[in-house]
Amino acid sequence: MAENNRTFIADLKDNVDKEVTISGWLYNSRSSGKLLFLIIRDGTGLCQCIVEKAKVSDELFDALRHLGQESSLTVTGTVRKDERSVGGYELAVSDAKIIQAASDYPITPKSHGTDFLLKHRHLHFRSIRPWCIGKIRHTVIDAIRRFFNDNGFILIDTPILMSMAGEDQQSLFEVDYFGEPMFLTQTGQLHLESAAMSFGKVYCFGPTFRAEKSKTRRHLTEFWMVEPEVVFIDLDGLLELAENFVSFLVADVLGKNRAELETLGADTKSLEKMTPPFYRLTYTEAVDILTSERAKNFLAEQLEQFKNQKEQIESRIAELEQQQKGNLKQWQKEKNAAELIELRSALTEVNTKIENNPKHARLAAEFVWGKDLGGSDETIISQMHDKPVFVTCYPKQAKAFYMKIDRTNPKVVLNFDLFAPEGFGEIIGGSVREDDHDTLLQRIKENDLQAENYRWYLDLRKFGSVPHGGFGLGVERTIAWITGEKHIRQCIPFPRMMDKVYI
Ligand code: 4AD
Ligand code: MG
Repeated sequence: MAENNRTFIADLKDNVDKEVTISGWLYNSRSSGKLLFLIIRDGTGLCQCIVEKAKVSDELFDALRHLGQESSLTVTGTVRKDERSVGGYELAVSDAKIIQAASDYPITPKSHGTDFLLKHRHLHFRSIRPWCIGKIRHTVIDAIRRFFNDNGFILIDTPILMSMAGEDQQSLFEVDYFGEPMFLTQTGQLHLESAAMSFGKVYCFGPTFRAEKSKTRRHLTEFWMVEPEVVFIDLDGLLELAENFVSFLVADVLGKNRAELETLGADTKSLEKMTPPFYRLTYTEAVDILTSERAKNFLAEQLEQFKNQKEQIESRIAELEQQQKGNLKQWQKEKNAAELIELRSALTEVNTKIENNPKHARLAAEFVWGKDLGGSDETIISQMHDKPVFVTCYPKQAKAFYMKIDRTNPKVVLNFDLFAPEGFGEIIGGSVREDDHDTLLQRIKENDLQAENYRWYLDLRKFGSVPHGGFGLGVERTIAWITGEKHIRQCIPFPRMMDKVYI
């Protein structure tokens, strides 16, 4: 089919008062006597198409009136500007052709539970939220590539099948490789370090796999990570690179996807504040905050807010349940039912928060220097800040074997995590790498890793070893933070989680 006969909904603004043909799917429709209002989507946007009974044949009017959601069709009509209409333009229809009439589309405009939607992910893509997130994901991925390409980095494709662990041994996915065990990559970093010694500034970007037994909203077993690696760089240099990078991503999304962010209800005002410098804390300072009166009061205040939210939700539920018992119009009943589904899921969520708050408060108050920060600790630190926070120099026993020991304080390593604000937790982990051969060998042994498997990695410390470092940014966590999505499973087209793979 020649595409040049087709006008995209996104281009209607350039065709006001002209007759155009759009092709797409029926998103929603309603009729009022002699008028039909069809909402059509074509991948570039939504458009209301108005069909007047008098302007088309009776057969066509009838067929369109009974057309099911997600039927495919082509519509011809004159473009009119209308501020009130979805997308700002509408079509006065003169003709239409049904391509395939669909019936009983399972995802209706009313609310559905998450489980149902994930089972129908292949169709749910067509709904407005996944569509907005998909467009933002595209922008983020394009911006990631552009940032590194325009700043002198060379792209290196690191392998997916690995013979050794790149992070911890517990989260390895084993693959039978012609009778020998291999592992799906947890990180491209180790191979990337080898490439950095050739090109100086490199990055890899691809899917990564972690058999993590975590069912949290922040964990996927397959996720996308971008990792830059740079030679002759110190910890300060890495922090600067990371804050410029993250600010660039946010600014690009704000510039290109403001409409999508607004549809999703994202906090664009707070995103506008995401400019360098970000906050910088050492691990030791972060522990001091966690165990402080300030954190205690902050959590107590939060608990009060959660309880207020719970009260408000419960009273609205009671009000709607009462209404439902009365004599309502069908559409009002359905609207209330949809709101009740949303409210009940919000109630479950706030109840979990109320239940967890004292646990998290206790974990924070009793935090002992030396442990890794947990998910709830990260959340508290990030919620106490309005911009991303770097936490640097963790105790060496809490972190990966390759991180460089701080020679001025050998208890800690020269690493950092970046926490996104408002409770999104870690979006970046990175470090300066241990570049001394013997120290690295010792760290490999201390971590119960087989030195034999790391021979090539150790080689890099024998032939012109130089200070170097890098980091990894999780794409889905970054998108969840930017869009305000609560669960990162919504931020990847086909999520893989520990307990469930739907399609
Ligand atoms: O902190 P991580 O484990 O760091 C590394 O893998 C380093 N080798 C990176 C480097 O220095 N080149 O992971 C980096 C980021 C995390 O901050 C998080 O955003 C994301 O990857 N991530 C996950 N995202 C979703 N699901 C999971 N299970 C994730 N694990 C890590
Ligand atoms: Mg990490």
